[in-house]
Amino acid sequence: MVISSEAAGSANYYSKSKPFVSKIIDKKMLTKPGSTKKTYHIALCVKGSNLTFHPGDSLGVLPQNDPVLVDHMIQTIRADKNALVTDTRSGEEMTLQHFLSFKANLARLTSSFLQFIHDHEDNHDKKNHMHRMLQKENKELLLQYVHAHDPLDLLKEHSNLALPLQDLCAQFSPLLPRFYSISSSVKAYPDELHLTVALFTFSHAGEERFGVASHFLIHLAEENTTSIPIYVQPAHSFALPADPNTSIIMIGPGTGVAPFRAFMQERIHTKAPGKNWLFFGERNRSYDYFYEDYWEELQKNNSLKLDLAFSRDQTEKIYVQNKMLENAKELFAWIEGGAHIYVCGDAHKMAKEVEHTFLQIFQKEGHLSEEEAKKHFKALKTQKRYLTDVY
Ligand SMILES: Cc1cc2nc3c(=O)[nH]c(=O)nc-3n(C[C@H](O)[C@H](O)[C@H](O)COP(=O)(O)OP(=O)(O)OC[C@H]3O[C@@H](n4cnc5c(N)ncnc54)[C@H](O)[C@@H]3O)c2cc1C
Ligand SMILES: NC(=O)c1ccc[n+]([C@@H]2O[C@H](COP(=O)([O-])OP(=O)(O)OC[C@H]3O[C@@H](n4cnc5c(N)ncnc54)[C@H](OP(=O)(O)O)[C@@H]3O)[C@@H](O)[C@H]2O)c1
Repeated sequence: MVISSEAAGSANYYSKSKPFVSKIIDKKMLTKPGSTKKTYHIALCVKGSNLTFHPGDSLGVLPQNDPVLVDHMIQTIRADKNALVTDTRSGEEMTLQHFLSFKANLARLTSSFLQFIHDHEDNHDKKNHMHRMLQKENKELLLQYVHAHDPLDLLKEHSNLALPLQDLCAQFSPLLPRFYSISSSVKAYPDELHLTVALFTFSHAGEERFGVASHFLIHLAEENTTSIPIYVQPAHSFALPADPNTSIIMIGPGTGVAPFRAFMQERIHTKAPGKNWLFFGERNRSYDYFYEDYWEELQKNNSLKLDLAFSRDQTEKIYVQNKMLENAKELFAWIEGGAHIYVCGDAHKMAKEVEHTFLQIFQKEGHLSEEEAKKHFKALKTQKRYLTDVY
């Protein structure tokens, strides 16, 4: 079910099962030609939607699989794209093409998918090979196989089979929404909602592949044409301080900077007197300094204190943590003065290392033991003054 702007009602009306259908009204590459990555600014039209969002909230996007991949899948299973199937999760009936485009995760192979093919295979050798992988003692072999293959690879290996279409469709995991930090404030752009999207790339069987949603938004979706089903995922605590006088420290390397563009637009629009400090990091200053003009303008107006860490502009890596350590004394003074700290971006390494850096700063500048520094950090978290949005 999708909702048009005319049908839009209350603020929280939209959800994963009842998204608002938006269109892209502007798409710009933020990374410059020559960059080693591809990150885009994407503006969506939300005019008439009544969609309510606040700085710090994320947007749920229901992506679409690449039509080329969908066609390839349909050819491989030798089915009619208009054949009707039921999406077992919603109970809705739709064409096979629609199901594979919008409902099926075409990237993930599961052991039950393998079992299903095994059960239908009558070629002795092929069946035996799969049987071996499905044995409990061969779990490692199975894991290796499902990581290295996707459903299309498996179906190609067994393209001789006439599989019952409905049962085959039931084997796919669901295509889930992806989340993106909203990078604009409704106060600055009342009818728009901005995203900062990095193209996800990985290698599959020696070929370059793209993540479903980032590929959809960056490469496939056409401006003013393609439907983009969306809904707001409220952040709850990752929000600006209630008191506009409170200073904020924002740490956002890469796409982690997205919510801080919304924070700054809001703080400027509301003339919040609190001080603002941004630590941004990317690979190369010449290619990857997203929203450079905006940050530089804010810095020139004394609305923002800005520290930049370009990791690949020199032989040794420089990360946001290094810039924090260089500014340890002043950072500590801001925190002791009541500043709120926000960390957004990579959860695997960056967020943990930033936390560790704060502990180092507390020990050094606050003359605290390791235990006392940990307590201080915990207190900041309890007071909701250390907030993270990491992925
Ligand atoms: C709260 C939140 C906020 C976020 N904000 C942003 C943001 O502002 N900007 C942003 O760019 N991102 C953001 N993200 C990340 C974003 O949601 C997506 O995770 C990201 O865009 C990748 O999604 P995708 O659909 O492009 O890739 P996916 O299709 O989900 O693929 C990504 C993962 O699957 C693996 N993979 C998939 N298929 C295969 C295969 N066949 N073989 C091997 N590996 C495979 C990839 O290696 C990778 O691990 C945020 C996430 C959260 C949770
Ligand atoms: N596989 C993909 O194609 C892909 C694409 C997009 C995003 N992602 C993932 O999505 C998240 C965000 O990605 P992003 O594009 O916004 O940026 P990112 O990959 O987080 O990189 C942004 C900046 O952070 C630096 N960095 C790397 N490790 C760090 C660390 N431990 N501490 C601090 N800074 C560190 C990077 O430097 P260096 O890179 O020079 O080390 C780069 O300068 C990450 O989890 C990332 O892995 C993956």
